[in-house]
Amino acid sequence: MKRAKHDAAAAFAQLWGGFRASRVLLTANNLRIFEQVGAGTSASGLASVLRTDLRATEILLDALAALGLLKKQKVTYSLTPLAKQFLLPGSPAYQGDMLRHADTLWKSWSGLDEVVRSGMPNRTGERDHDVFIRAMHNNALPRVRQVISALDLRGVRQALDLGGGPGTYSIALAKKGIAVTLFDLPNTIDVAREIVRTAGAKKISFRGGDFHFDDIGGPYDLVLLSQILHSHGPLENRALLAKTFEALAPGGTIAVHEFSLDDDRAGPLPGALFSVNMVVNTSEGRSYTAREIGSWLREAGCSGIKTKRLGDTVLVLGKKK
Ligand SMILES: C[S@@+](CC[C@H](N)C(=O)[O-])C[C@H]1O[C@@H](n2cnc3c(N)ncnc32)[C@H](O)[C@@H]1O
Repeated sequence: MKRAKHDAAAAFAQLWGGFRASRVLLTANNLRIFEQVGAGTSASGLASVLRTDLRATEILLDALAALGLLKKQKVTYSLTPLAKQFLLPGSPAYQGDMLRHADTLWKSWSGLDEVVRSGMPNRTGERDHDVFIRAMHNNALPRVRQVISALDLRGVRQALDLGGGPGTYSIALAKKGIAVTLFDLPNTIDVAREIVRTAGAKKISFRGGDFHFDDIGGPYDLVLLSQILHSHGPLENRALLAKTFEALAPGGTIAVHEFSLDDDRAGPLPGALFSVNMVVNTSEGRSYTAREIGSWLREAGCSGIKTKRLGDTVLVLGKKK
C-alpha cells in the first residue's frame, strides 16, 4: 500500500516536472554538447570549448548522465548508446533537428494559458523553416517503412506526395520505381531538393505552390497526404480532399496519414497532445479521428474506406472507382 502511494506520487511528480528533463535535453542539443563530448571529455574541457560557465556546465552534464544520455567515469563524460542513436548527426535515427524544432515549440507552448483563454494561436517561437522541414524528416524516417508497406502499391505508377515536406515518403515511393511528384510550398521545396539529392533518389519531380489555390496536377494512382490535415479546419480539409479526388485516376487511392485519435478524442496520448500543439500553432487545426477523416473522404467521392493503425499514427484510405 505504502509502495503504491510512493509510486503514484513519483508518477505525479514526473507528470508536472517532466519539463526539467526536456529542458536539459533541449539546451544540451542547442549547445551541441553531444557532438562536442565525442569519445570523452571533462566538464572543464567542454566549458572551455563551448565558452560556457564551468559550474553550470558541470551540473548540466551530471543531469544528462542521470538521464542516461551521458556516462560519467571519474571526471570524464562520454555518450551512451541512447545518445549515439538519437543525438549524433549522421545516425539514421537522428532527432537533433526535431529537438531544435521542439525548442521553438517550447516558446509557443509557454503561452498556453493565454491560448486557452483567447482561442488564438501563439507562434512566438522564432521559426527556422529549414529546421522545421528537417525536423519533419527526423519524424518521418522511423515511420516510413511501416507507412509504405501498409499501402497497396500494385499498379501505382504515378504518385503525388501532397505537402510532401522533406520528401521522406517520396524517396521511399520512388525507390519502389514509382514516379513521384512532391508538391509543397516553394521554400519547403528548396530544402526537399537537398534531402532528395543526398538520398540519391531518382524519379521525383518537384512542384512548388499552395495546395489550396494552385493546380496540383494529375491524374495520379496514389495521393499521400501525410501530416497535412491537422493544420487546417474541417472546411479547408473537405475542400482539399475534394480537390485531391479530382486529381486521382480511376481506381486511384487517397491515403491520409495522421496521429491516431480515438472517437472520444481523449486518447491516445500522442494524438491528444498533438492536438494541443495545433491549438498553440494554428487558428483551426487539431488532431482528427479516423472516423472524421473517413467521412470527409466519402464526401469527396471515395469508396471502400479503410483504416490501418500504425503505432501512434493511422492511415485512412479511400478509393476512386
Ligand atoms: C507537417 S509537414 C508534413 C510533411 C510530410 N508530408 C511528412 O509527413 O513528413 C506539413 C507540410 O505541408 C506543407 N504545407 C503547408 N501548407 C501548405 C500549402 N498551403 N500548400 C502546400 N504545402 C503546404 C508544409 O510546407 C510542410 O512541408
